[in-house]
Amino acid sequence: MKERMEVAVLASGTGSNFEALSRASLDERFPAAVRLLITDNPEAGAISIAESMGIEHAVVDCGAKRGSMSPESSARMAQLCAARGVGLVCLAGFMRIVKGELMSAYQGRMLNIHPALLPSFRGLDGQKQALEYGVRWSGCTVHFVDEGVDTGPIVIQRAVPVRDEDTVESLSARILVEEHAAYPEAVRLFAEGGLRIVGRRVFIRERA
Ligand code: GRF
Repeated sequence: MKERMEVAVLASGTGSNFEALSRASLDERFPAAVRLLITDNPEAGAISIAESMGIEHAVVDCGAKRGSMSPESSARMAQLCAARGVGLVCLAGFMRIVKGELMSAYQGRMLNIHPALLPSFRGLDGQKQALEYGVRWSGCTVHFVDEGVDTGPIVIQRAVPVRDEDTVESLSARILVEEHAAYPEAVRLFAEGGLRIVGRRVFIRERA
C-alpha cells in the first residue's frame, strides 16, 4: 500500500475540525494520516481529543502577543513537523498568524479553514460578520496559507443559506457541518497530488 502523507494540525480551541480530519484518516484508504496536534493553548479541547484518539500532541508557547507567534515558537513547530516527516500542515482554529520558519518551510503545504466564503469576512468572527452584513449565503473556505490573513489561494468552498431566525450560534453550527466535510476533502485532494496552484487559482484534478 502507498505510504500516506503525514499531517500535523495546529489548533487553539475546541478541535472539532482536528477531530474531523483525524476521523477521516482512521480509514486506511484515506491518503493522509493525522500524526500530530500542535497547540498554543494548554487548555485546548483539541488536546483531549488527541489523547482519546492516541494522537501525539505538543503545546508550544507562542508568546504573549495575541494573534501573533514568536520566532522561537515558529522554529519549534517547524522542527516538530520536520522531525515527523510532516508533508502537510492544517490550521484548524489556530488563533495566530503563521510566520517565520514554519511559514517558509511549509508555504504551499499549509492549509487553513475559514468560516465564511472568502474573500468576504476575513479575520475573526466570520460568521458574525456575515450575519451582521445581511448576506443570504455564507459558508466555509479551505485555502492555502500565505503571509496574509485568510488571503491564500482557495481550494474548496461550501455554501449554506442564512435564515431569518439565525443567530451567530445557529449559523456557525450550520457552517461547521460543512467545514467537517470540506476539510477532509481538501486534504485528500492535496495528499493525492491533485491540487495545482497557478497564481491565485487552484486547479483540481481528480484521480482517474
Ligand atoms: C472553525 O469555525 C474554523 O473555521 C475557524 O475556527 C473554528 C475552529 O473550530 N478557523 P474547531 O476548533 O475546529 O471546532
